[in-house]
Amino acid sequence: MMKVGLIGYGYWGPNILRNLVEGQLVEVVCCDLDEKKLQKIQARYPAIKTTGKAEDIFNDPEIKAVFIVTPISTHFSLAKKALEKGKNVFVEKPMAASVSEASELVKLAEKNKCTLMVGHTFEFSPPVLKIKEIINKGELGDIYFMSSTRVNLGLHQKDVSVIWDLAPHDFSIIFFLLDEVPTSVQAIGRDCVKKGIPDVAFIDMKFPSGIIVHTELSWLAPSKIRNTTIVGSKKMLVYDDTQTVEKIKLFDHGVDFKDPETFGEYQLSYRTGDIISPKLKTFEPLREELRHFIDCLKLNQAPRTDGESGLRVVKVLEAAEQSMKQQGKLISI
Ligand SMILES: NC(=O)c1ccc[n+]([C@@H]2O[C@H](COP(=O)([O-])OP(=O)(O)OC[C@H]3O[C@@H](n4cnc5c(N)ncnc54)[C@H](O)[C@@H]3O)[C@@H](O)[C@H]2O)c1
Repeated sequence: MMKVGLIGYGYWGPNILRNLVEGQLVEVVCCDLDEKKLQKIQARYPAIKTTGKAEDIFNDPEIKAVFIVTPISTHFSLAKKALEKGKNVFVEKPMAASVSEASELVKLAEKNKCTLMVGHTFEFSPPVLKIKEIINKGELGDIYFMSSTRVNLGLHQKDVSVIWDLAPHDFSIIFFLLDEVPTSVQAIGRDCVKKGIPDVAFIDMKFPSGIIVHTELSWLAPSKIRNTTIVGSKKMLVYDDTQTVEKIKLFDHGVDFKDPETFGEYQLSYRTGDIISPKLKTFEPLREELRHFIDCLKLNQAPRTDGESGLRVVKVLEAAEQSMKQQGKLISI
């Protein structure tokens, strides 16, 4: 069985470890700076080796890949050290804290012939894969616009704005679904609770095809909303990730503009047809994502959410943050 290292056992690390262990995907050595986290691992998985030093993982010649599940500010230095030691790297979203860091990781992975994958988990989720299928079949027609909302009460991050924490999810979903990246971005936000750390942001993006997208992000909302609406020329779609059933609803709704027969005649016809909720597969996206990474290593293939895909998300995150700092200035990408 392939041996891997996992660095970071805070909020998200336990989900990664559980999936690696339950899926019997690999043999894992775990690392965290916090001794209490290591005790938790030992209590739950007595057979798993642990260490407080990431160097032990980088210097173990048997370890083929490293999972980096630490705060964003540490992604670059840890991923860089792992790649320099020739390890394949799975790094959590966002791949790094700046475009220059992300570009350097992509180049280093290429130079050292290492696989670099970023944890864009939603690109492996059944509803997002179903929406991609619906778009590719042309069921929505030409997409006019999208809007997405990702808000909840918490978890406030200590070192990054809500954009760097939550937007990687929406950006990776949107770029994957639309198969294009924005040409410009504008964002406004506010640091309501802790000065210097914006906890609410509204982001607008324009795409080369003409599609416009609005994204609302917040750690300061009365209820959890995970909603994406896509409006096309033929149909409209709503994806509500908080639902346990009927996560996707496809509306055969639209407005047709009829060519006027006489001068001065202006007719719109509104269509409200069936509302269908497509059947979705039921698997855990994270398990699928981790299996994909391991399979790519075994088969020597490039992962779907590779370093380039991590970099394109970081480019837009950086531009959105820049716009927010300049009160919504339009930033070309
Ligand atoms: N894909 C997803 O859906 C998803 C969900 C949540 C979080 N995440 C990502 O996972 C990453 C971790 O987030 P979190 O909420 O678990 O953070 P966290 O702060 O809860 O945990 C981070 C852990 O890393 C440890 N750590 C920090 N620096 C270290 C180092 N140099 N060596 C060893 N251990 C170190 C800390 O002690 C801590 O236990 C972030 O990048 C976050 O964006 C992804």
